[in-house]
Amino acid sequence: MKVTIERLGHLGHGIATGPGTGPIYVPGTLPGEVVEGTPDGERMVDAKIVTPSPDRVKAPCRHARACGGCQLQHASDGFVASWKQEIVANALAAQGLKTGFLPLVTSPARSRRRATLSARRTKSGALIGFHARASDMIVDIPGCQLLHPGILAAMPGLQALVIAGGSRSGEMSLQVTLTRGGPDVTVTGGKPLDATQRMGLARLVETHAFSRLTWDGETVALRDRPALALGTATVVPPPGAFLQATAEGEAALVSAVRQALGPQRRVVDLFAGIGTFSLPLADSMEIHAVEGDDAMTAALEVAARNTSNLHRVQVETRDLFRRPLEADELQPFSGAVIDPPRAGAEAQTDRLARSAIPVIAAVSCNPVTFARDATTLVSAGYRLEWVQVIDQFRWSTHVELVARFIRPR
Ligand SMILES: C[S@@+](CC[C@H](N)C(=O)[O-])C[C@H]1O[C@@H](n2cnc3c(N)ncnc32)[C@H](O)[C@@H]1O
Repeated sequence: MKVTIERLGHLGHGIATGPGTGPIYVPGTLPGEVVEGTPDGERMVDAKIVTPSPDRVKAPCRHARACGGCQLQHASDGFVASWKQEIVANALAAQGLKTGFLPLVTSPARSRRRATLSARRTKSGALIGFHARASDMIVDIPGCQLLHPGILAAMPGLQALVIAGGSRSGEMSLQVTLTRGGPDVTVTGGKPLDATQRMGLARLVETHAFSRLTWDGETVALRDRPALALGTATVVPPPGAFLQATAEGEAALVSAVRQALGPQRRVVDLFAGIGTFSLPLADSMEIHAVEGDDAMTAALEVAARNTSNLHRVQVETRDLFRRPLEADELQPFSGAVIDPPRAGAEAQTDRLARSAIPVIAAVSCNPVTFARDATTLVSAGYRLEWVQVIDQFRWSTHVELVARFIRPR
C-alpha cells in the first residue's frame, strides 16, 4: 500500500488516510512524504519512504532507530519548532482563541541535566537506558545526544548501583539530576536493603562522587549537598522534586516569565516548586510562593532565608486544587505566575479570573489544559497578549510554553 502522510499525531507518528475512511499511523514519517508498506490494523509496518520531505534529516543520534527516548530525530529543528507552535495555536483555536507567538527557544543537544532512566540487573552486569519504541526492552545509550555528558559520565557508577541493589526479576527506575555536589540519584524498584547492602551502596556513592542516593524513599547516603543555583540563591531540592529538565530551558522560562510580568512590586507564584521563578524574581519584587509539597516549600524557604539582597519571599504550603487562593487573597498582588502540573489549574484559574490581578504569567506543559484555562481567563476579561513555546524536550513531542495575560483597565 502507498499513502501520503498528511500530518503528525500527538505521539509524533505520521498519519495518512487509509483505503477505508480510518487513519493509518506510520511512525518515523513527516507530512508530505509518500510511503509504501504493509498495513497492520491501523499501522503501517515495514514502511519505506518513497518521496522524502525536505524537512527530513539524518538522525543525529546513532541510537535513534532502536531507542524510544526521542520521537522526532528525523525532523529538522525548524520543522519541530513550527509543529510545536502549531499544536499550541490549534489548542487555542479549538477554544476560539488566537494570539501572537514570540520566537521559540530550543534547548541544545546534550543538555538534559535531569533524566529518568530504566535499568535492569542482567546475568553479566546491568543494563541502563531508555525503553525501545513501544516495548519494555531497555536500550543501552552510550552515544545519547539528549543527555548532558555529566549524566553519561555517571553511567559506570549507576551500573554499580544496579548490580549491587537491583533484582533480575524487576525493572528499576533511576532519576539522575546533575547538581553542584555531583549526580543526585533517586532509585525506585530496587531490592529491599539490609544493613550490609546499605553500607555497600554508601561506599559506591563515595567512589563515584554522587551527591546523594535515595533508595525507594530512603536517603541511603549524602556525600555532598545536591545543591542547585536558582538566581543568586542556592537550593537543595528534596529527592525527586520537580526540576526543569535543562538549565537552558529553565533560563528561557525565567526570562519569558520576567518579560510577561514586567516590573512588579508584589507577585504571587502559584505551584512554585522549589522556587524556579520565585527565587530569581525576588531580586526585584516581593514574592508569595505557594506549593503543595511541604518538602519543596521547606527547601525554597531555607534557600530564600540564606540569600542576601532578595526582596521578601513568603512561602505557603497549600493544595491549590482543593484550596485555591481566593480572589480576596489575590487582591494584594500586582502580578501572578502560575505553573501547574499537566492537569492544569481549573480551580485556581477560576479564582484568578475573578480577581483584579493586572498581569498573569502562565507557564504550562500541556497545551490542552492551558487552552482550557486561558478560555476561563479570557471569558473573564483578560487579554492573551502572547505565547512563547520553550522547547526543553527537543526531539520529543512534549510542548512547554509561557503566556502573558493582562486585564485591560
Ligand atoms: C510544573 S511543576 C512547576 C514547579 C515550579 N514552578 C518550577 O518551575 O520548578 C508543578 C508544581 O505543582 C506542584 N503541585 C502539584 N499539584 C499541586 C496541588 N494540588 N497544589 C499545589 N501544588 C501542586 C508540584 O509539586 C510541582 O512543584
